[in-house]
Amino acid sequence: MREKLRIAIDGPAASGKGTLAKQIAKKYKLLHLDSGKLYRYLAFQVYKTKHKKINYPKLQISLKKITLKKLHNKILTTEPITKIASVISKQKKIRKMLKKIQHHLAYNPPKQFKGSVLDGRDIGTVILPDAHVKIFLTASLNVRAMRRYKQYKKSGIKTTYNKVKNDIKMRDYLDTHRKISSLKPAKDAVLLDSSFYNTKSAFVKIDKVIKERIKHIDATY
Ligand code: DC
Repeated sequence: MREKLRIAIDGPAASGKGTLAKQIAKKYKLLHLDSGKLYRYLAFQVYKTKHKKINYPKLQISLKKITLKKLHNKILTTEPITKIASVISKQKKIRKMLKKIQHHLAYNPPKQFKGSVLDGRDIGTVILPDAHVKIFLTASLNVRAMRRYKQYKKSGIKTTYNKVKNDIKMRDYLDTHRKISSLKPAKDAVLLDSSFYNTKSAFVKIDKVIKERIKHIDATY
């Protein structure tokens, strides 16, 4: 039996992977999971306990109640949650708990989907090493900071370009220096630097990679 298509998109904070993954999901009728939202969801549970020690059994219980809809909660994108997410994502136990969910959704997407596309930091290396297509999306720090700053401004969040840039720089450091599942491209990933592309041209590039890969794999799409 032919497998359902699995696509992995990894990259640093604000590289545009989420936007592109969403567009790919729409075009190829795939389930889209922004794995960062899972870390953010757990970060929110930790936040609610007023920064006490991480209570793993309690987190397990809240994970059982997780739905894709809950991951759309705007609070997950706020600054305190972002900070906690980047700290707790270092923990082996947290990564193990979330690996299960990511696997479940990637390998068994609901019937209406023809496969799955997951975006994050370790999708191509750890979560889906057997993904049919792996993309590693980067962009310079300045470009990513400017993109994120404009997004914040548009949604009425008060901040400065320098603050956004420093936050991203710090997250880059944490993501690339953690002992487990650190941010790096899989050996078989296609690297794309989107510093000089807008979303539309980055999508065209990625779409080309997908179309080319699909020709050579035994997966439905
Ligand atoms: O992609 P994001 O900015 O929403 O991710 C939030 C945090 O979650 C990020 O600082 C690192 C962590 N994360 C991770 O460790 N592994 C992933 N696959 C996705 C996110």
